[in-house]
Amino acid sequence: MLLEVRDLHVEFHTRDGVAHAVNGVDYGVEAGETLAVLGESGSGKSVTAQAIMGILDMPPGRITAGEVLFKGQDLLKLKEKDRRRIRGAELAMIFQDALSALNPVLTVGDQLGEMFTVHRGMSRRDARARAVELMDRVRIPGAKERAGQYPHQFSGGMRQRIMIAMAMALEPALIIADEPTTALDVTVQAQVMDLLAELQREYRMGLVLITHDLGVVADVADRIAVMYAGRIVESAPVHDLYKAPAHPYTRGLLNSVPRLDRKGRELDAIKGLPPSLLHIPSGCPFHPRCPMVQDVCRTDVPPLYDVTESDADRGSACHFWRECLRG
Ligand SMILES: Nc1ncnc2c1ncn2[C@@H]1O[C@H](COP(=O)(O)OP(=O)(O)OP(=O)(O)O)[C@@H](O)[C@H]1O
Ligand code: SF4
Ligand SMILES: [Mg+2]
Repeated sequence: MLLEVRDLHVEFHTRDGVAHAVNGVDYGVEAGETLAVLGESGSGKSVTAQAIMGILDMPPGRITAGEVLFKGQDLLKLKEKDRRRIRGAELAMIFQDALSALNPVLTVGDQLGEMFTVHRGMSRRDARARAVELMDRVRIPGAKERAGQYPHQFSGGMRQRIMIAMAMALEPALIIADEPTTALDVTVQAQVMDLLAELQREYRMGLVLITHDLGVVADVADRIAVMYAGRIVESAPVHDLYKAPAHPYTRGLLNSVPRLDRKGRELDAIKGLPPSLLHIPSGCPFHPRCPMVQDVCRTDVPPLYDVTESDADRGSACHFWRECLRG
């Protein structure tokens, strides 16, 4: 396994109390595999990513338990100097907002070039040539001329391509992309996502793709991890999960997307709001919103059960996953 997150716990100490943002997350990504991480706002997707990358705000954040094994090594145990070496070179991140992630006072060519001068010891001239190559690779028209421009002179879609180029520059083994297309127009979203998927395949990178967009997931991901209140509630190969979700929350997410094969049916959005992370409900954290709730759900926390009815590696944190699978 390229990346394996085990039993990760992150909390934030706030004025109102302790927010339990990540409560025992387990997920893994193989080389060349895309894992989509899905879940409502506030479910802990970004905080998990930040803990993996070593860029969590600490304080107020605190990692209270868990391991982040990257190529078998626990990143949480490394010194900051060693983490920094891995970040960028082996493990890179793409953010939603390129404008704040890129340096506004450096030209794009200089920023990309810096990856090669700093990490690879190249001359400025060679580094600039590599920067232009990369801009070509992410299909920025007129790369040579545009390398001399600043981030604000590019459109949102082009900026996102530049951020992909930055992340790809040192050919990392794993990229974490946190809602990489959310801020873009729908047509541009599809182009940027296609580019990312193409590069991921070409370089056989592992990709953790955090997204709200179930449509995107079906096209590009191998596996899905669904998060709720800082936990993984379902983990499965994409096609198995689409065919028959094994968790009522996943079913709710699928039902809230319009699908061609369900024309005419009312959209069934999930009722209620995500829980406060200061007071996570007892038992199954989804129980106040769950259409299948039983008494046991209010008292007993469901573990991530092995969904043994399928051959694939599949898990569901629902006491009634069998009933859910049968629809
Ligand atoms: N710097 C912080 N200080 C205090 N609490 C924080 C901080 N960052 C995150 N949190 C808490 O962690 C929770 C999870 O945040 P996270 O950003 O991981 O959600 P998300 O799943 O990425 O949501 P979204 O889809 O909106 O990006 C937040 O609801 C918030 O309570
Ligand atoms: S454990 Fe109970 S409340 Fe939780 S998802 Fe399953 S049926 Fe619903
Ligand atoms: Mg987020």
